[in-house]
Amino acid sequence: MAPILIDTDPGIDDALALLFAWNSPEIQVEAITTVAGNVPVDIATTNLQRLLALRKPVPRPLVAVGASGPLARALTTATRYHGEDGLGDLPDWPDVAPLPGSPDAVSVIIDLARRHERALTIVALGPLTNLALALKEDAAALGRVGRVVAMGGAVDVPGNVTPTAEFNMSVDPEAAHRVFAAGLPIELVPLDATRQAMLPRAGMRATLARSPGLLASRIQGFSERGFRIAHGDGEQGMALHDPLAVGLAIDPSLGKWEAARLAIGPEGETLRINGAPNCRVAKGIDSNRFIRWFLDRLCPGPAPRDASS
Ligand code: BDR
Ligand code: CA
Repeated sequence: MAPILIDTDPGIDDALALLFAWNSPEIQVEAITTVAGNVPVDIATTNLQRLLALRKPVPRPLVAVGASGPLARALTTATRYHGEDGLGDLPDWPDVAPLPGSPDAVSVIIDLARRHERALTIVALGPLTNLALALKEDAAALGRVGRVVAMGGAVDVPGNVTPTAEFNMSVDPEAAHRVFAAGLPIELVPLDATRQAMLPRAGMRATLARSPGLLASRIQGFSERGFRIAHGDGEQGMALHDPLAVGLAIDPSLGKWEAARLAIGPEGETLRINGAPNCRVAKGIDSNRFIRWFLDRLCPGPAPRDASS
């Protein structure tokens, strides 16, 4: 199983991405690092703990808390979309215990990069602050990582926070600039691709109805806000931004990729510039295959009963 580190700011679609990853036998989620983005980092970490307590993945990934804000500007969150608590503001999550002396995100990223080198895939689902800080600390170790699959950017399509910028890039453009300038093996999953990964509300409801229980009702509860806002914005369903990045990390053949040289503008714009490619960009995706695959793995039903017992 391929070792994966997920850097995330949960977030409704981050939560769906984590559940999808935990149900994917091709990968081993060794560590999850949190970062400020959709919500402040303490809330992002609480949300991760809520999801861990709900799903109880085995083995339990190492959890590490990351940056509390962008490198050079104030944090802008996305609570209009995700809710004040980042997970749809459901009233009744069980309390989570404070993390006992957890390591910091930068040292976990560096440690896994040194240990696994080419075998490691980093999946970045939030602003790139933690990665930029890890690069500052040990660029050589990061340079030996096999793949960095990052959700973010709007290359040839309009942005979702400004006409030209996507949320993750716009929150910390200085960090994104450093990551793109570092020569890492970046595989970018921008809005160009994720807007093709539209999850219909009816499809989600039908899937969850097949596996009734606490997990299904929680997923239904926190996803409902995502559908409501998306439909209010005139969308046909919820764009699975972060789950698509996990899907492409597991199976790159889901996408059509284009080598490109990108620079990050001052507001987080992903700008095409001349020169040798510094990343590959997911442009087209096999939407039907991805959505089917995602729904199959989101919420597994109870294990089949042993016929001999
Ligand atoms: C990205 O922004 C966040 O709100 C989502 O979690 C996703 O990572 C989409 O632009
Ligand atoms: Ca995210």
